[in-house]
Amino acid sequence: MVKINENYDKLSPNYLFVEIAKRTKAFSEKNPGVKVMKLGIGNTTEPLTPFVIRGLHAGVEKLADAKTYTGYGDEQGDARLRKAIADFYSKRGITLAQEEIFISDGAKPDSANIQSIFSKDSVVAVQDPSYPVYVDSNVIGGRTGKSDGTTYRGIVYMPCNEANGFFPSLPGEKVDLIYICSPNNPTGAVATKAQLKDFIDYAKKNKAVIVFDAAYHPFISDPSLPRSIYEVEGSKECAIEINSFSKSSGFTGVRLGWTVVPKALVVEGQEAGRVNSIWNRRQTTMFNGASNVAQEGGLAAISDQGIKENQVIISGYMANARAIKECLVAKGLVVFGGENAPYLWIKTPSGMGSWEFFDKMLNEAHVVVTPGSGFGPAGEGYIRISAFGHKNDIQEAVESIRTKLSL
Ligand SMILES: Cc1ncc(COP(=O)(O)O)c(C=O)c1O
Repeated sequence: MVKINENYDKLSPNYLFVEIAKRTKAFSEKNPGVKVMKLGIGNTTEPLTPFVIRGLHAGVEKLADAKTYTGYGDEQGDARLRKAIADFYSKRGITLAQEEIFISDGAKPDSANIQSIFSKDSVVAVQDPSYPVYVDSNVIGGRTGKSDGTTYRGIVYMPCNEANGFFPSLPGEKVDLIYICSPNNPTGAVATKAQLKDFIDYAKKNKAVIVFDAAYHPFISDPSLPRSIYEVEGSKECAIEINSFSKSSGFTGVRLGWTVVPKALVVEGQEAGRVNSIWNRRQTTMFNGASNVAQEGGLAAISDQGIKENQVIISGYMANARAIKECLVAKGLVVFGGENAPYLWIKTPSGMGSWEFFDKMLNEAHVVVTPGSGFGPAGEGYIRISAFGHKNDIQEAVESIRTKLSL
C-alpha cells in the first residue's frame, strides 16, 4: 500500500495569503463600493521593457522556422545565457566558469530544491523572519518535527530585529545549512560585506553551506553593499547563490532564474566539485531546462541595454518605496527597509499585533498589507509593505493612509 510523504502533514496550513484574502473579501462585502488598495504582494506590475520584448519575440520567431527551431535544450541552460551570466559577474570582479552556473525556471524552485542534495540530518538555520520556502522545503525534506503554530522543532531560527539591524548573529550552535536572503524579504535589510564575512568564516570552520538568495540584488543602490556573496572573500568554498530574473526584469510570469554552485565548494567528507556535480545530476534528472523563449528574453534582459532599461523600472519602484516611507514616517510610524530593497518593514504602533494592525490599515485606510508574523515568529509586531505597484495606485494608497489612518 502506498503512503504519502508524511512530512506534508507536519506543514502548518498555508495560512498567510488565504487569511489576507478572507479578511479583504469580508471587508469588501461589508463596505460595497469602497476601493481596496493592495500594498501587500511582492509581484511585479510594470510591463517588460522593449529590448526584452524584442528578445522574447526573436525566441518565438526562431521556433517558427525549421532552420532555427530548437526542442529540448541543455538541462543546465543555454550556453549563451550561462556565458552572459558569467560575464555579468565578471563585471563585478567575480570569476565564474559556465559549468558553475545552472539556469532554472526561477529562484523559488531552486531555493526549495537545493536542500534535497544535502543529508537529511543536516541542521538548518534560517533568518527569522524569512521567505517561507526555506523552512517549508526543509519540513518536506524531513529535517523537522511538527509545527507548534509558530516554529518547527529542528529548525534554528536566527532572530533579525531592531537591536541587530535585522541581520542575525552567528548561530550559537553548530548548524549545517544556512539560508541568507539579501536584500531580505520581508525586512528589506541588506547584509554588509563584514556581516557576510562572519558567516563565511563560520561556515568554513563548521563545514556548513550558505544558501544565499540574491533575488532582489538589483534594488541595491549603495555601492558599498554586496550584490553577490561572491564579492566577499572565501565565499566560493562555502556558498551557493540563487538568483532570479523575476524582480530584476519583470519575469515573475515569464519564469527564469539561475543558481551558482562553485566548484570550490567543499562539504564534509567530499572533494571540491562534488556538490557541483550532484546539483548537475539533480537538475539533469529532475528538470528539463528552462523555456527556450524565456532564455532568449533573459539574454536580452542581462545585456547592457536590457539592464539599462530595467533600471528605469526599478528606480520607479524605489520612488514608490520612498513615497510610502515618507508618508508612514510623517504619521509617526517606525519604518525600516525600502532603501536598497522594494520592501518596507513597519513596526506596529502601540505594541499592536501584526494582524491587529493589518485590520486597522484595512478598515481605516482601505489598504491591504502583509502581517509580519507570516514570515516567522520574529515578524510578530511588524507589517510588510511592498513597493511593487503602478505610481498612481501607490499615490492613491499613500494619500488614503495620510488622510484616513488615525494613530
Ligand atoms: C526571497 C525570494 N526568493 C525567491 C523568490 C521567487 O523568485 P522566482 O520568481 O524567481 O521564483 C521570491 C519571490 O517573491 C522571494 O521573495
